[in-house]
Amino acid sequence: MSLTARHLLLLGGTSDIGRAVAKHYADNGWQVTLAARDVEAASRNAADINTRQPDAGVAVEGLDILETESFVSFLDALHPLPDTVVCVVGMLGDQEQAETDPDHATRIMRTNYEGPALFLDMIAARFVSRGYGMIIGVSSVAGDRGRASNYAYGSAKAGFTAFLSGLRNRLATKNVHVATVKPGFVETRMTAGMDLPGALTAKPKDVAERIAGIEIRPRDVIYVLPVWRLVMFVIRSIPEPIFKKLKL
Ligand SMILES: NC(=O)c1ccc[n+]([C@@H]2O[C@H](COP(=O)([O-])OP(=O)(O)OC[C@H]3O[C@@H](n4cnc5c(N)ncnc54)[C@H](OP(=O)(O)O)[C@@H]3O)[C@@H](O)[C@H]2O)c1
Repeated sequence: MSLTARHLLLLGGTSDIGRAVAKHYADNGWQVTLAARDVEAASRNAADINTRQPDAGVAVEGLDILETESFVSFLDALHPLPDTVVCVVGMLGDQEQAETDPDHATRIMRTNYEGPALFLDMIAARFVSRGYGMIIGVSSVAGDRGRASNYAYGSAKAGFTAFLSGLRNRLATKNVHVATVKPGFVETRMTAGMDLPGALTAKPKDVAERIAGIEIRPRDVIYVLPVWRLVMFVIRSIPEPIFKKLKL
């Protein structure tokens, strides 16, 4: 796949999926900036890509998605304003802990929904002023229906999915495209130790290829492995009286 050389801002520059996305765009000639709260770890990812791809020039900027007051200065310092922003920031957290620890629950909710949504709204305004832009948010199938095993995370992803849908709707006539990516299971540190079904599990590079494909053929909502669309259709179709008795 060839992408025209442009500028990507990746939020979540230390993430396993993010690293694959950054590498894929850099391999295709894009300038990439990794935004991360752990600048040292993101710098290692940048150095890794730059070593293999001496022309890549991947840069790193500090950004904590929970520090919303820093967003304006972060955006003001971005030169140039990126053509595309991809947000892979997220936190699975611990569902049982979230049920009794409001701080933990709040952190899950703010990391998966509030922070990314507020940041993307702010960059969207700048894309509109400039006249174009691409916003790609990585949400989750967990947001398609709340389940006992992860509803703190799932409800935050549901909020993020709804936010992206509304933003897409608002910007449809402004030449700013908004895409929602639902990866399904992916082999990353987030799912380390989980027994994942092979047929439903993607690799970070699969997610990266699907995300980069949006640059060529803009899509609104994608499930990285198409089988997840069917799986989630079935799960959403189960009547609530039956669903509430299932262990999913
Ligand atoms: N793996 C899966 O099966 C799967 C499935 C569906 C959706 N997803 C979504 O895919 C995205 C990437 O996940 P991943 O699997 O690659 O997991 P990951 O490696 O744990 O990535 C999560 C990223 O979010 C960042 N982050 C968390 N809190 C932050 C904060 N306050 N400020 C800035 N960055 C913060 C992490 O940074 P630190 O390194 O500093 O913690 C990390 O870069 C997430 O949104 C996740 O919900 C993953």
